[in-house]
Amino acid sequence: MARILITSAIPYINGIKHLGNLVGSQLPADLFARFCRARGDEVMFICATDEHGTPAELAAAKAGKPVEDYCAEMHEVQKELAAGFRLSFDHFGRSSSQRNHRLTQHFAGVLANNGLIREVSEKQVYSIDDKRFLPDRYIEGTCPNCGYTSARGDQCDNCTKQLDPTDLINPHSTVSGSTNLEVRETKHLYLMQRTLRDKLEAWIDSKTDWPILTTSIAKKWLNDGDGLQDRGITRDLYWGIPVKHGDQPWPGMEGKVFYVWFDAPIEYIAGTAEWADAHGLDNAAWERWWRTDKGASDVTYYQFMGKDNVPFHTLSFPATILGSGEPWKLVDYLKSFNYLNYDGGQFSTSRGRGVFMDQALSILPSDYWRWWLLSHAPESSDAEFTWENFQASVNKDLADVLGNLVSRVTKFARAKFGETIPAGGSFGAQETALIADLGTRIKDYEGYMAAMEVRKAAAELRGIWVVGNEYLQSAAPWTVVKTDPEQAQAMIRLAINLIRIYAILSQPFIPDASATMMSALNSTDWTWPNNISEAIRALPVDHGFAVPENLFRKITDEERAEWQVKFSGIRT
Ligand code: 2FM
Ligand code: ZN
Repeated sequence: MARILITSAIPYINGIKHLGNLVGSQLPADLFARFCRARGDEVMFICATDEHGTPAELAAAKAGKPVEDYCAEMHEVQKELAAGFRLSFDHFGRSSSQRNHRLTQHFAGVLANNGLIREVSEKQVYSIDDKRFLPDRYIEGTCPNCGYTSARGDQCDNCTKQLDPTDLINPHSTVSGSTNLEVRETKHLYLMQRTLRDKLEAWIDSKTDWPILTTSIAKKWLNDGDGLQDRGITRDLYWGIPVKHGDQPWPGMEGKVFYVWFDAPIEYIAGTAEWADAHGLDNAAWERWWRTDKGASDVTYYQFMGKDNVPFHTLSFPATILGSGEPWKLVDYLKSFNYLNYDGGQFSTSRGRGVFMDQALSILPSDYWRWWLLSHAPESSDAEFTWENFQASVNKDLADVLGNLVSRVTKFARAKFGETIPAGGSFGAQETALIADLGTRIKDYEGYMAAMEVRKAAAELRGIWVVGNEYLQSAAPWTVVKTDPEQAQAMIRLAINLIRIYAILSQPFIPDASATMMSALNSTDWTWPNNISEAIRALPVDHGFAVPENLFRKITDEERAEWQVKFSGIRT
C-alpha cells in the first residue's frame, strides 16, 4: 500500500470560483485522490481557502463586513460547494488558522537563523488620513504611461504597464479617497532566493518525469532576466499573519504581516495539522505525512495547480522548504494545467464572466460537470467550454453510452428472469473476447490515471463503456432469449457484472452515478478489478439487484439555448 499526499492549489477566499478554477486544480486532484484510494493506497488529500492579501481585505470592505467575518462566511460557502462537487478532501482548511500562523512564523524564524532573510528599506505611499501604507490595489491614480485615470498602484488596467505606487500621477487612497498622501520609508523582509538558486536548479533538474508545462515555466523564472529575484515576504497590511521570528517578536516589524504568497503554500502543511486537530490526533499523525524524519520518507507527494501558480510552487515554496534546512517533504510530482476558456473568451472572476460553481450545481448535478470538465481538461493546451460541446458530451457519453447500457440491461433482466442474477448457460467466444479486451483496456486506463493523464484516462474509460455496448449490440440477448434462453442468461450475468466493474472504474469521475449503480446492484464490494476474470464473476448467481433510477438525463436543445443566454452576461 503506497502512501500518497495530494494537495490542490488553495482557492482565494474572495468570491465563488468558476469552472475554469475548478478544473485547473481541485477537480483533477480529486480524481487522482479517488483513484489512489480505490486501488487501496493510503491517501491524504488537503485543500483550504487562501484568505490573506489585499483582495480579501478589499472584498470584505466591499461586502461591508469585518474581514474576519467575511472570510469565515466565504470559507463555509466554498466548503459547501466543494462538497456539492464531491471533492473528497480529507481536510478543507483555512490559511488564517492558528496552525498556519505558527508554522509560517516558524519558517520565517528558521530562514532568518540560516541567514536567508534580509531587511530592506523601501519608499512607500502612506495615507495620513487612513493612517496606513497603501500597497498595490489600495492606491489609484493617473497612469504616467497612457493617462488612464484609474490605474492601480501595481498595474495599469488600460495599458497593462507594471507600475510602482510612487509612479502614479494625482494618486488617491481607494480606502477613503484621500489625497493627503506622502512617501515614507518602511522596512520589509526579503527571502534571499538568489542564494538558493543553485540548489533549486539542481532540484528541478532532477525532476525528469515532470510535465513540460511545469518544468518550462520553472526554468523560465530561474533564468529570465537577472535570474531568480529575492522576494519581499512582508506587507504593511492589517489582515494577515503577524511577522514574528518563531514565537518571538521581530524588532522593527511591528504591525506588519507576511505576504500572502509566503503563507499560502505553508497552509498545505498546516492544513494537515488542522486535519489532525479536527480528528483529535496528535502531531505525529500529521508529521508522518510531512517530516521525512518522522515517517514521511515513504510518502509520494503530488501537487495540482493552474500554470500561473507554477513559479510559486517550483521556486518560492521550495526555497522556503530547502532554506529551512529542516526535513520537510518536497513535492515529488507537480501536475499543472493550462486555462479553460468560456465560449469565445476568458472565464473571469473580476468581470463575472462564465459559469461559477454555485450556478453550475443549480442547473445540473455534479457528475455532469465533472465528466465534461475532466474529459476536456486543459492539459496540453488551453481548452474551451461551449454549451454545444457540453450538451453533446453529456448526451452521448453519459446518457447514450453508459446510462443506456445500465438501464437496458437491468430492465431486460428483470423482465425476463426476475430481480436476481440468472444461472443458465456459460460464457462463449464473444464473452471471452470481451473479457480479454476489457483486461487490456483496464490496464491502459490505470496507466493513464496513475500518470495523471486526465483526458486520456477519460477517453479510455469511455472506450471501456463503448465496448460493453458493442458487445450487447452484437450478442443481442433480447433476440437470443427467444431461441436460447440459457445463453441469454449467461450474457445477462456478464452484463450485470459489467455494470459493477463500470461503477468501480468510473467512480473517480462520476462518484454519484457509481454509488447509484452499486446500490442498485446491492453491492458494497468496491475491490478494484485487478483480475478481470474474477471481477466479471464477482456477483454470483441468485444475487439480487434492482433497476436503478435513470442515471443521466439528456440536455434538450431548449435548455442549452436557455443556458447559453442566461450565462452570456456578467455575474454581479
Ligand atoms: O491562484 C490562486 O488561486 C492561489 N490562491 C493559489 C495558492 S496555492 C498555494 F500556494 F497555496
Ligand atoms: Zn496606462
